[in-house]
Amino acid sequence: MCGIVGYIGIREAAPIIVEGLKRLEYRGYDSFGIATLNSTLVTMKKCGRISENEHCAVDLEGKVGIGHTRWATHGKPDDLNAHPHTDCTGSIAVVHNGIIENYAELRRELRERGHAFSSETDTEVIAHLIEEHYAGDLFDAVREAITHLEGSYAVLAMAQDDPRIIAARNASPLVIGIGDGELLAASDVTPLLDHTRKVVFLEDGDIATISPEQIIIWNGNGPVERSVSMIEWDVESAKKGGFEHFMIKEIFEQPDVFFHTASSLKDGAVIDAMRECGSMILVSCGTSYHAALIFRYLAEKYCSIPVRVELASEFKYYTPPLQGMVIGVTQSGETADTIAALKKARQFNCTTLGITNVLDSSVTRIADHTIYTRAGPEISVAATKSFIAQLAVFLQIINLLQDNQCEEVMAMVHRQIEDSLLIDLQGAVDACGRADHVFFVGRGPYYPVALEGALKMKEISYIHAEGYAAGELKHGPFALLSEKTPVIALCLPGESYGVMLSNIKEMKARGAPIIGIGIEGDRELEEIVDIMVGLPKCHLFGGILMSSVVLQLLAYHTARMLGRDIDKPRNLAKSVTVE
Ligand code: F6R
Repeated sequence: MCGIVGYIGIREAAPIIVEGLKRLEYRGYDSFGIATLNSTLVTMKKCGRISENEHCAVDLEGKVGIGHTRWATHGKPDDLNAHPHTDCTGSIAVVHNGIIENYAELRRELRERGHAFSSETDTEVIAHLIEEHYAGDLFDAVREAITHLEGSYAVLAMAQDDPRIIAARNASPLVIGIGDGELLAASDVTPLLDHTRKVVFLEDGDIATISPEQIIIWNGNGPVERSVSMIEWDVESAKKGGFEHFMIKEIFEQPDVFFHTASSLKDGAVIDAMRECGSMILVSCGTSYHAALIFRYLAEKYCSIPVRVELASEFKYYTPPLQGMVIGVTQSGETADTIAALKKARQFNCTTLGITNVLDSSVTRIADHTIYTRAGPEISVAATKSFIAQLAVFLQIINLLQDNQCEEVMAMVHRQIEDSLLIDLQGAVDACGRADHVFFVGRGPYYPVALEGALKMKEISYIHAEGYAAGELKHGPFALLSEKTPVIALCLPGESYGVMLSNIKEMKARGAPIIGIGIEGDRELEEIVDIMVGLPKCHLFGGILMSSVVLQLLAYHTARMLGRDIDKPRNLAKSVTVE
């Protein structure tokens, strides 16, 4: 996720773009760049935050321009990898959000045809493709160029000899703002609101020609009409896409995050190293630790690979020998304990892998291999989409180790995450909101799902929540059960289903109100629980993902009902860089 702004009209473009990019820094903040057209096309690119480097844009002249604030996905954050990217002649410039999945192949073909690349990004292929098709009309060239792209994109393009901006969208948002004698384009409405409230949202497949007075939109072989909307939000709500908090916005991004992350991981050197490693040790903290625990159950079940999962903060106290591949799972890539654990693994000559959401973060410099999750910047302190992205990586690893046998299931999971966003949780939220203590229980891979549900609940609602393996409750915690301690019980089909039903009956017999999370229409479960949260019928992968999302939503709505500071819970930081 990055931010895009374009301007064409009666005023100088650069200052408007700079202000717009500042509004978008919540979407990307590694580097930024702007191209403007006066008599020539001039491009400026800079690593770092725009708010600290805006003086770099003062010399840019022209009443048309495009800009970008980057959150790196392909290629480290530096001046060269910053957008805009240009063609071989420097007379075509593009900014892009999204991921071009076939960029490696396109880059190789373009190189063979003589194009010289100056960055490591997937975006640069778009500039060179436009160059190949350019014969005096930028619209035609962009239209041809995008037929070669696979993946997601929101693109703005400019050319030295064409006074317009061309915009194209597929699976990545792009919105046009209509001003008085001027038009703006952006990846969301935030930078537009200082100038206009009249906007047009482009749809997938749209290509728009933007000149100061008008916008013409094509889709397929002909022009299309798109309605004009009036935006009522203020800037703060616009940053959240109209959602009340970043956390809920990020929860709703999860279907896309899952899809992009899973589809970006392909067979190759890392998967080969896993095939050869014999065993794995996963080290991580907090939410990442829970994702790792889920992987353990699945990797052992589906791939017969022995997997150990350790809290990174305890890893230093374990006595070697260490064997196999050691995997550090850390969304930030900076967690001190996880970094220390990987350093220890290196001392024992283990192959190391980092799974992280942040390009060029510390973990990528320590580990032999890196797999990136594609969650985009996560603003809410409580991890949600980065967790789902880690699960996407783990499920895709299992799929690849099984020679793509889970492909169909993976496609279903993506849609089921969408379904789980719509499930009614009001009864469960009311029950949790009234309680001082809540238990979350599950078995097998649903045990770490329960741990994660409890973590989310405690960190944002401040209600004391315990995640437990359902079979362990009778070994002590039963003493705490009463009509005042709701139990969230994950009871989905699978090898633990029958024994979970018995556990639920035991808990109910001790007076605890039971909120069952199971499959819609499961009469046996419905009969014994007090509140039923029904999920659509699903495979184990879908059950894990859907129940995880439901528990995130349960924590969110409970915290919201209690009026908590959801995006910035007390005493917590997004990245924990001390041991
Ligand atoms: C909980 C949460 C934390 C992190 C933990 C590890 O919502 O965000 O528990 O999961 O601090 O962080 P990373 O994954 O950055 O190593």
